[in-house]
Amino acid sequence: MLMSQHVFITRLIPEVGISILQKAGFEIKIHEENRPMTRSELGRAFKKADAVITMLYDRIDDSLLDGALRLKILANLAVGTDNIDIPACTARGITVTNTPGVLTEATADLTMALILAAARRLAEGDRFIRRGLFNSWDPLLLVGTELRGKVLGIIGMGRIGTAVAWRAQSFGMKIIYYKRCPLPTEEASRYNAEYMPLEEVIGKADFLSLHLPYTTEVRHLIDRKRLNMMKPTAYLINTARGGHIDEKSLVEHLKAKKIAGAALDVYEQEPTLAPGLADLDNVTLLPHLGSATVETRNKMAQIAAEDIRSVLTGRNPRNPVG
Ligand code: GLV
Ligand code: GLV
Repeated sequence: MLMSQHVFITRLIPEVGISILQKAGFEIKIHEENRPMTRSELGRAFKKADAVITMLYDRIDDSLLDGALRLKILANLAVGTDNIDIPACTARGITVTNTPGVLTEATADLTMALILAAARRLAEGDRFIRRGLFNSWDPLLLVGTELRGKVLGIIGMGRIGTAVAWRAQSFGMKIIYYKRCPLPTEEASRYNAEYMPLEEVIGKADFLSLHLPYTTEVRHLIDRKRLNMMKPTAYLINTARGGHIDEKSLVEHLKAKKIAGAALDVYEQEPTLAPGLADLDNVTLLPHLGSATVETRNKMAQIAAEDIRSVLTGRNPRNPVG
């Protein structure tokens, strides 16, 4: 009889994922506390695990894997895998998987929500009314900006970027984009999206939205110099990764009203915000909710669990990374 295989899950996930693993006969352990595990807790858990489902905040580096002698697969419950040292895993024969595709629509929806929130000052309006300041309709109250005719600049035109372009088109926005390898003309024309060099996109956008994966090469892609290139009336939208933006410079720009505003779902030092960010009225802040729909979170849990089942039963996972 085979020894049972152990699956460790670093935070409670939707039931569908757990039930797939249970039905496959694995021993399951879940860190059920409502907080990230510490590094030493992770190290201890990894020692006994054949498979682990990790969260996007779990930092998995080479030395953390030293004691992980049974580990065969890390299934990251995210499309981004910037939290995992993939070459280190590969060198140790550990498969890494992610959850691509299933969060495209949810993240694109949230991006539109943030674009609209910035344009129409939703968070400001909500704070205004909760403070008891709503006395009467006012022709000058919280006046925002329309989307029709505005330029949406998309940096990173992959699955999520194109899904945002598709939505934005129906609001009458003009789409320009930058991507390392421009889309084939036929595909770009499906979104009426025009390719431009990076800094031209930054300089022309009324709404600038980031949709590229995070690597150290693109750390602070939007730095002080590039913030300076933005129109003073432009908004910066980020549902990708916080590290793409130099947040200190962003706070200064927002404070000095050198750009109109920002709407952010992600932060460089999550869950810590850059000093001063939360004091500003011209910024909308969300707690990393891009994939937070029931549909998407269920699918993410499902495909992470299915890939673990595949690897632990000697088959190929569907979503290997690296
Ligand atoms: C969310 O940020 C993800 O990468 O899935
Ligand atoms: C989104 O789902 C992506 O994989 O880019």
